[in-house]
Amino acid sequence: MKNKKFETRAIRTQAIQSSYKEHSVPIYETSSFVFNTAEEAEAVFAEKKSGYLYSRYNNPNTDELVSKLCLLENAESGVATSSGMAAVFLSMGGILRAGDHIILSRHLFATTHLLVEQVLSKWGITHSYVKMNNPEKIVTCLLPSTRMIFVETPSNPGLEIFDLELIGKFSKQHDLYFVVDNCFATPYLQNPMKYGADFVIHSTTKFIDGQGRTIGGAILGKEKFMNDIITLSRMVGTTMAPTTGWLLSKSLETLSIRMERLCSNALSMAEYLENHPDIEWVKYPFLSSHPNYKLARKQMRLGGALVTFELKGGRPRAMKFINALKLFSITPNLGDTRTTITHPATTTHSKLSDEERTEAGITDGMMRVSVGLEHIDDLIEDLENAISYSKKD
Ligand SMILES: Cc1ncc(COP(=O)(O)O)c(C=O)c1O
Repeated sequence: MKNKKFETRAIRTQAIQSSYKEHSVPIYETSSFVFNTAEEAEAVFAEKKSGYLYSRYNNPNTDELVSKLCLLENAESGVATSSGMAAVFLSMGGILRAGDHIILSRHLFATTHLLVEQVLSKWGITHSYVKMNNPEKIVTCLLPSTRMIFVETPSNPGLEIFDLELIGKFSKQHDLYFVVDNCFATPYLQNPMKYGADFVIHSTTKFIDGQGRTIGGAILGKEKFMNDIITLSRMVGTTMAPTTGWLLSKSLETLSIRMERLCSNALSMAEYLENHPDIEWVKYPFLSSHPNYKLARKQMRLGGALVTFELKGGRPRAMKFINALKLFSITPNLGDTRTTITHPATTTHSKLSDEERTEAGITDGMMRVSVGLEHIDDLIEDLENAISYSKKD
């Protein structure tokens, strides 16, 4: 499968057929697996013989999902997790020890930020935030104890783009683990391992599910580093359920075609907003006005499905505008067939201090839209009506 194109890999990677010769893979919803003999059980437990034993360890449905994701991300090994945050946690908890130091950008999903600030710090793991596209700045944060660089690109919700090639080279030069949260791009738009990432993280809750039905995640990477992460996942039980694995593996079959349409809808929406007189600013990686437009074009196939913007009139107008929308769902999830909108300062990033939000590029009037698969003309009509309504006193 390795030399096949993305779509073929996403569709034709399958668990071994059972004796019933089914075309679609069944759901293996079982806690454990049965052995023919006590000796066979001993051999499988001792890893002298391959085989399934217990679904906290592995299961054909989650294995199929992981095999697909590895092929799509050029990774050697991986593990499916109960949530995207479980994957983020495993990437740090499985590798770092007390006394270690991580370098991150401020532009992060808020819970990742809180995990580092409030949990890892209790375990003696320290961190520094840095302007990630500037190697001179990164060097100033390097300590003898630095072991990891963690990056989210495009970032949630600021849509900052970080230079994977530059950070990949820097990490190699300084012998650091390089971790990339690739949730906003998906493996269809961007493959961080090509640029030297050691681990790639996904919140499968988002585009990989694509219809907002499940919570899940995955961490994929180089085999020599994955073992500690897989062991931790098995011990603490951050395992994905078999039905979730089955559903996500099916969803991956349509990822490429969904991303193509989502990105074309998002670009049209971003262009519409950019030309609207009531817009204060709009940000989208594939608009030439994006500060890292060239970099986005270099490392991403398309610009993604997220658009952020602010209307003239700041937060009061943002609230009025959101309430006037008819087709957009007011919900924190993203990557759905349905267009969703959120006001990060009062929802997903409300637990950050004012200063932290400013540093993460989140203004009081900023709105984040995850553009869906509804017809773009209907979405723009809805936007137009809500912009006009929100202008009235
Ligand atoms: C970039 C990013 N990483 C990680 C997560 C966490 O994923 P989950 O909600 O599946 O735990 C999210 C959730 O929004 C996210 O946007």
